[in-house]
This record gives sequence, C-alpha cells and structure tokens, in this order.
Amino acid sequence: MTNGKLARTTRAIYPGSFDPPTNGHLDVVERAAKCFGELLVAIVVNPQKRSPMFSLDERVAMLKECITGIHNARVEHFHGLLADYVKSANADVIVKGLRVVSDFESEMSAAMMNRSLSGVDTLFLMSDQKYSFVSSSLVKEVYFLGGDVASLVPDPVLRVMAEKRTSQLESRS
Ligand code: PNS
Repeated sequence: MTNGKLARTTRAIYPGSFDPPTNGHLDVVERAAKCFGELLVAIVVNPQKRSPMFSLDERVAMLKECITGIHNARVEHFHGLLADYVKSANADVIVKGLRVVSDFESEMSAAMMNRSLSGVDTLFLMSDQKYSFVSSSLVKEVYFLGGDVASLVPDPVLRVMAEKRTSQLESRS
C-alpha cells in the first residue's frame, strides 16, 4: 500500500465488539472507508471475558443502519480468532481506532500478535478528540443508570437502547 491507487484496492477489516456501536466507532468507519477500497466492519460474536448486552442480530442491524450510505463498507461477523478471520476474508489490513495513549499499550501487543498469526498489519486511526472518552461500556453504564447519551451514539443505536431499557423496566415491574 504505497500510493492512493493501491489503497483503493485494499480490503480492510475494522473489528470490534460494537456492544453497542458508538459515534466514535462510526467516525472510524467513515474515515477508514475513505482510505481503503473495501471496509469490512467485523463484529466478534463472543467477546472475550464478557457476554454482550446486545445480541449479534441486534449489533448487526444497528451497524447496518449506521453505515447506510457508506458504499464501500459492509457489516460482517466472526467467531474465534481475528487472525483466522482476517486470513479467511483475504484482508490486507486491520484497522483500529486509538482514543488515548493508554489504548496503545494493549493495541500494540494485539497488533503484533495478529501480525505474527496472520502476517497482516494493523493500521491505527486516531479517534476524533470529541470521542476520546466514549466507550461502549461507559455508554451502557451511563444510559442504563438514566444518563443522556444522545450525543454519543448514532440514532439507530439510541432507539434500540431505549427499547431495551423499556423491556428491562417492564420485566422488573
Ligand atoms: O471492541 P473491542 O471489544 O475492543 O474489540 C476487541 C476485538 C474484537 C478486536 C478483540 O477482542 C479480538 O480481536 N477478538 C477476537 C479474538 C482474538 O483474536 N483474540 C486475540 C487478539 S490479539
């Protein structure tokens, strides 16, 4: 990937839990889609060490709605190792977002591990400063404790979160 022409033929994978997708994720998708010919937004089915709040179907549907209009991006999902998925998808590059310096420590070892397993490099995009504090886990915690997250997640996500909160409240009453 040495010039713009090659970049346009490159297949990139942006992996994540997307539980749920945030405006920070969407910002990375929008900018990565401008850098690469094809962008696969790949949802890990079972994130390590935690069970997702949103089902795979919900995460796929939310992300699909969020990226409508980004013609070279599509939503996929994978089980198991990212490195295996990257190889099976014939991807050229992995894309990740970096919000703050502390993200770099874990991302650096993940990038090295993924390169040693798959031969594929990870390229990092700096998150927009206004999303540097936004994570899916904080968004969930704040929202389900009654906080306002409308400026932090895309509208389709806010709608699904509202439905989930309503059904949680109904099941408690
Ligand atoms: O949105 P997240 O939770 O920060 O994304 C983390 C993700 C999905 C990129 C990472 O957990 C992952 O790659 N999971 C797949 C399992 C795997 O390959 N683990 C080794 C990573 S070096």
